[in-house]
Amino acid sequence: PVQQDFKNVKILITAGGTREPIDPVRYIGNRSSGKMGYAIAEAAAKRGAAVTLISGVTTLTASAGIKVIKVETAKEMQQHVEANFASNDVIVMAAAVADYAVAEVSEQKIKKASEKLSLELVKNPDILLGLGQKKQQNQLLIGFAAETQNLLKYAQDKLQRKNLDMIIANDVSKVNAGFNVDTNIVKIIGKNNLVEDIPLIKKTALASIILDKINKLKTH
Ligand code: C5P
Repeated sequence: PVQQDFKNVKILITAGGTREPIDPVRYIGNRSSGKMGYAIAEAAAKRGAAVTLISGVTTLTASAGIKVIKVETAKEMQQHVEANFASNDVIVMAAAVADYAVAEVSEQKIKKASEKLSLELVKNPDILLGLGQKKQQNQLLIGFAAETQNLLKYAQDKLQRKNLDMIIANDVSKVNAGFNVDTNIVKIIGKNNLVEDIPLIKKTALASIILDKINKLKTH
């Protein structure tokens, strides 16, 4: 029997990658599989939490009992995250949100013509940054940082700038870590900048560790 230590806890989780349309048949996407976010959602539900999962692109399906809202673009994800933010105690942003969207999405399929083609991109809203500014005393905000260099420094900077309670940093240039694999290698960084190294681990097991840490934060 799983300990029901998330009973009466409402948790909002984002997972998967967003897709930004270029024209009716093309998009800009990323390599996120959704595995990390879904693993956290499943583990939280098993421990008694009421789970809302805002899911970007993924092939995964969630268990019955988890409320799933499917989205495609970063803007759609933002709308649903913000609509659900105030009513949740814990918010985990595991989604790989596109940093840029296509400035003008073509209504028709773009035909090949010239040798060069440029797309103008505009910055997407940083959903997590916005949440950090609105966070209440009783809410916990957890983010992820996928980096290919300066992992610790960039992650610590995000923790501060986005007003997070915890950040899970992974070096996506490592084999068996990050996008589209079942395992991860991470550093978990808390508010006091205490860093815990988690060597190669299954994403399902990492989900439990993350929830244990959230549990400690919420009882403090
Ligand atoms: O700044 P960076 O994109 O590396 O931050 C990663 C964290 O911020 C992740 O938790 C991700 O889900 C979140 N994020 C977001 N909105 C964006 C970009 C990232 O919420 N536009």
